[in-house]
Amino acid sequence: MDTINWSELSFGYMKTDYNVRSYYRDGKWSDPEIESSEMISLHMAATCLHYGQEAFEGLKAFRGKDGKVRIFRMRDNALRLQSSSRGIMMAEVPVELFEEMVLTAVKKNMRFVPPYESGASLYIRPLLIGTSAQVGVKPSKEYMFLIFVTPVGPYFKEGFQPTPMVIMREYDRAAPLGTGTYKVGGNYAASLVSGEKAHEMGYSAVIYLDAKEKKYIDECGPANFFGVKNNTYITPESTSILPSITNKSLMQLAEDMGMKVERRRVPEEELATFEEAGACGTAAVISPILRIDDISENKSYYYCKDGKAGPISEKLYHKLRAIQYGDEPDVHGWVTVVE
Ligand code: PLP
Ligand code: COI
Repeated sequence: MDTINWSELSFGYMKTDYNVRSYYRDGKWSDPEIESSEMISLHMAATCLHYGQEAFEGLKAFRGKDGKVRIFRMRDNALRLQSSSRGIMMAEVPVELFEEMVLTAVKKNMRFVPPYESGASLYIRPLLIGTSAQVGVKPSKEYMFLIFVTPVGPYFKEGFQPTPMVIMREYDRAAPLGTGTYKVGGNYAASLVSGEKAHEMGYSAVIYLDAKEKKYIDECGPANFFGVKNNTYITPESTSILPSITNKSLMQLAEDMGMKVERRRVPEEELATFEEAGACGTAAVISPILRIDDISENKSYYYCKDGKAGPISEKLYHKLRAIQYGDEPDVHGWVTVVE
């Protein structure tokens, strides 16, 4: 523990002191329990193992210059987990219980919240799983809700350096009327083959097109997509992408900066017209895109010609981080200070 090199952290798992758990039985959630074991005990026929009744969340806590720890938009994550629960027929975790357990998980692991200067943060991973035994395809009657935390650095190894991404037309992540808008494990399973192929080819992520027409930009494996042109922030509207809380925040910040914001379908050809492009999410923050290759069509779209992030991406990145770390006032009420 004494030897954590905070500024060298990547996005990975590190054991911390405690996790927090609540159990849904007989229609009620139990009082949260604090656990030091990293293990869970599960029935071999649990629905999470067989029928994918699993949803998760990702949010972060940041230590400010003032030493205070701030959690970013946790209510939004609580609401999104409820939406995921409705999407795959799981019991919903009440917002108050979600928030209480996030706060407990952070407070019990305070020594793992990275120092301000490191630029790292504490990643908070809530997980909801169906635990009752079923062999027929039916929703579980019982659920476990668990939150663990782990200190993290940048998701893409480049951090805020521009990184290349790829369109692979032979793979889809989510169907138009499927589960793409929910944060469920199956979507990530569906992205593994293309994601690993992309990594082997030197790309940091896949940019998926809409699965039906293969005409419109959907999102990246682990993040939403945005483009910038003519002082306008443009991001895809789609029924198969996750509603990103980071993206929603960036749309607000872009508007605050006097930019126009458009949430609409983004045809692939439009990639050629963007001055800047990026991936955004809790883990990715903003990852500026260097280049997008559509490999089967033999097309490439170039950004960051001087190898640096564009000025709008840079401004949005710094603004978002300043609010998260408490360097700038939280005018939108996005931050919860851990007391
Ligand atoms: N899209 C996908 C598929 C993701 O996994 C994530 C990460 O949570 C995002 C987008 C970004 O969402 P958020 O900004 O809420 O973290
Ligand atoms: C996040 O940004 O929180 C994510 O969940 C992305 C990825 C690690 C799945």
